[in-house]
Amino acid sequence: MTKSGLFQFLHDTGVIPVACVEDAANAVPLAEAVLAGGIGVLEITFRTEAAGEAIRQIRAECPQMLVGAGTVLHPQTAEKAVQAGAAFIVSAGLNPETVSWCTARDIPVLPGVCTPSEIEQGLALGLDTFKFFPAEAAGGAAMLKSLSGPFPGVRFLATGGIRAENIAQYARCRNVLAAAGSWMVSGELQAKGRWDEITRLCAEALLAVQGLEFAHLGINNGTPGEAEQLARIFEAFGMRANPGPLSIFMNREIELMNRPFYGSKGHIGFRCTDPARTAKYLEKYGFTVNPESIQYDADGSVRLCYFQEETAGFAIHLVK
Ligand code: 3PG
Repeated sequence: MTKSGLFQFLHDTGVIPVACVEDAANAVPLAEAVLAGGIGVLEITFRTEAAGEAIRQIRAECPQMLVGAGTVLHPQTAEKAVQAGAAFIVSAGLNPETVSWCTARDIPVLPGVCTPSEIEQGLALGLDTFKFFPAEAAGGAAMLKSLSGPFPGVRFLATGGIRAENIAQYARCRNVLAAAGSWMVSGELQAKGRWDEITRLCAEALLAVQGLEFAHLGINNGTPGEAEQLARIFEAFGMRANPGPLSIFMNREIELMNRPFYGSKGHIGFRCTDPARTAKYLEKYGFTVNPESIQYDADGSVRLCYFQEETAGFAIHLVK
């Protein structure tokens, strides 16, 4: 996989489990549990003797699982990790020697940074993608937003203190490639062989990163006059009409279209952290994007898209 292909895959997945494997015998059941939860990437940290063997076994038994190595403190550890089959290298801090060892061999490396000076050091080494660590303690999503000003081309793998409850606020940051964390693959869950729970937590994390929430219901009308008649009815229920060029919004929850639009009856809009990522996530549920419906933001990212499939007469769409 090329470096850009790898980063695209990390972005599309959105969440990377970070596992510390004490017993290499747990590596394959762990990887299978994570895959069953819908996640195809795993970071194994070099904090235990078993790390290299764990990576080797996962690559041999679950070739569809992409494996990265974490807590790589020296070039020697990076070499061990790559020999074992690691596709990328992650570390908590920025060690120029480890970075140079990786870049000389074209191995994707994400050193940890949490200050502007560290980012500048990494830029000078030719990198533009970093681990942002420790994310929560170093200022979280607010800090990432601040960093997007001076470093518009830099992207981060946010890690440290992230859970299902706060992952969406990271996924919403334009400069976040993905978020990572250990909560769904903890040492305790591995030691107790709670593979089903790991699968459940991975699936939950994958849903949480989408940040999906109901936005509005769109109702198609034949003419602007029909839309206005409907608006009077919803006003009787205390809703406020906000007319626009295409439709009348009643508060923010009901959109009365001025003419027939997507969907035979109308549409259902869902907000999410990143429509391009969530469209990929929903492919497994049989949804395909209508390419003509895609609208982009100024930075080239997808702002809005409709699915081809109708659900009970409604077209479903995603919006940032
Ligand atoms: C790491 O090294 O990436 C962290 O241990 C993961 O952070 P978390 O344990 O807070 O998820």
